[in-house]
Amino acid sequence: MSYEAILVERAGAIATITLNRPKQLNALSQAVIGELSTAFEELENASDVRAIILTGAGDRAFAAGADITELAQLQSATQGRLVATRSHALGRKLADLAQPVIAAINGFALGGGLELALACDIRIASDTAQLGLPEVSLGIIPGWGGTQRLPRLVGPGMAKLLMMTGERIDAAEALRIGLVERVVPQAELSNAVRQLAATLASLPPISIAAIKQAVNRGLNMALDDANMYEAGLFAELTATEDAKEGTRAFVEKRKPEWRGR
Ligand code: COA
Repeated sequence: MSYEAILVERAGAIATITLNRPKQLNALSQAVIGELSTAFEELENASDVRAIILTGAGDRAFAAGADITELAQLQSATQGRLVATRSHALGRKLADLAQPVIAAINGFALGGGLELALACDIRIASDTAQLGLPEVSLGIIPGWGGTQRLPRLVGPGMAKLLMMTGERIDAAEALRIGLVERVVPQAELSNAVRQLAATLASLPPISIAAIKQAVNRGLNMALDDANMYEAGLFAELTATEDAKEGTRAFVEKRKPEWRGR
């Protein structure tokens, strides 16, 4: 599959998707959303891919939001709803992937760009990154899951503060409030993210996928139901070859060999 607005590269068990409109600071046009959706569908079926990195081309932006020139042309509420629901579907696809997705935030992550990063499993930012949901200054609201995912990550008060003011914060503040999980110097970002991806790719994939689903789905459940769901996943995992191998290798004081089953 060839893409125009994104790049998809494979290196061993790691796939990297690069948002590739650097002149527009990787603004997320509808074409980008469509291509991302296709790329995630392809990766869903690539069981040899064990970790996915999502980043932006150039050194200025991860993505500076939805493409505002397209937003300016929306004629009706129906069109607006479609834009929101298409990106919600993309977030669902990301969440349902078995592989972990790491956002490598290499600059501006604003509006839809930050919302896309919020839909990823882990966010690593360069120390030059600037993050925010400035939609209020355009007379709209975050509509790609931001009003829902941001409070789940940083709490409702901080989420409202960021969304109501539309203010941009730097990487250090993003780390402090739990909006990103790690910050590294810009020159080290791609190495740090590749290393993390390699670590995740080296671990048993069924465990990684189950942890992702336990957290993603559990967050939408009441605690008792979520624990019941966890118990079901735990039970499934205990029956895998990898669980037998992992526990046996510990007892035999050797390195486990994961088989992914
Ligand atoms: N949609 C479409 N184009 C965008 C864009 C977006 N979200 N963000 C940046 N661009 C374009 C600019 O229009 C400009 O294009 P041009 O060179 O043809 O004029 C180019 O990217 C570079 O941006 P520019 O604004 O000149 O860079 P800057 O360094 O002065 O400012 C930002 C950078 C990120 C602060 C500024 O571009 C910005 O505020 N962007 C919009 C952020 C936003 O509101 N996102 C939420 C959208 S829902």
